[in-house]
Amino acid sequence: MSIDKAKIHSHFNKRAETYNQSAAWVNDEKLLGKILKLAQVQDGWKILDLATGTGKVAEVLKGKGREVIGIDITPDMFLQNKAVDELIIASAHHMPFASGIFDLIVCRQGLQFMNLDLTYAEIHRVLKQGGSVVLAHLTSYGEEDFQDTYETLRLRNSARVNFFKKIDIPQSLVNFGFTITTIENHPCRENAIAWLDNGAVQEAEIEQAVEVYKSSNQQFKLWHQLEIEGQSIFETMNMQIVKAVKTRC
Ligand SMILES: C[S@@+](CC[C@H](N)C(=O)[O-])C[C@H]1O[C@@H](n2cnc3c(N)ncnc32)[C@H](O)[C@@H]1O
Repeated sequence: MSIDKAKIHSHFNKRAETYNQSAAWVNDEKLLGKILKLAQVQDGWKILDLATGTGKVAEVLKGKGREVIGIDITPDMFLQNKAVDELIIASAHHMPFASGIFDLIVCRQGLQFMNLDLTYAEIHRVLKQGGSVVLAHLTSYGEEDFQDTYETLRLRNSARVNFFKKIDIPQSLVNFGFTITTIENHPCRENAIAWLDNGAVQEAEIEQAVEVYKSSNQQFKLWHQLEIEGQSIFETMNMQIVKAVKTRC
């Protein structure tokens, strides 16, 4: 699947105003608390919030280090971002920074839109030796639910180009010269209809996604704690949080 920057812009421009209410995980204090705890921010740290969006992750990092810089490619998402010390419109693929300047890079739910080889290489380049990266992304629980998870995520956001299994992000980080220090899995309970209806999705796609839930296999139903009653659908998604340290130049 090729990356379509115009599609990403169009999707997030439509959603920007209501983005903060578009999924339970966006404001999930337990999830944000876990990210902050893993980050172990120290005084004086220079932090990058990659794909900062409306700045929900930056909000919990604000004031903890020396500064938080946010980059993103969708200007409308910035309008609500009051958390970062500096906002830069730039792509993760070519970051406008010198090498080795950040102590910490965080990214929640951004990698699914990116060219991963370019992005991991850039994360590695702009991070100091010994610096940390904390990545939080939705994954399938295993092989058996991957296809149905993939379909629901694809139908909700057609700009998405990557779909992750639990092994993918840790494995890539190792390949790019990082050592994994922690992996946590955080359950995100969602009202699936509200989650699908994010303001940038057609009614037909929502209906298709509902069919995916209804016809999903037993393992998906079990792992995702799927509850379907009349018009209402609830599921529990898996948000994987990976912390790694740059150990190889
Ligand atoms: C699902 S939002 C996540 C926002 C925020 N990190 C959060 O956790 O709420 C994804 C964001 O990734 C941004 N994005 C997509 N591709 C990008 C790229 N190549 N470089 C920087 N940001 C990108 C989008 O514009 C959007 O704001």
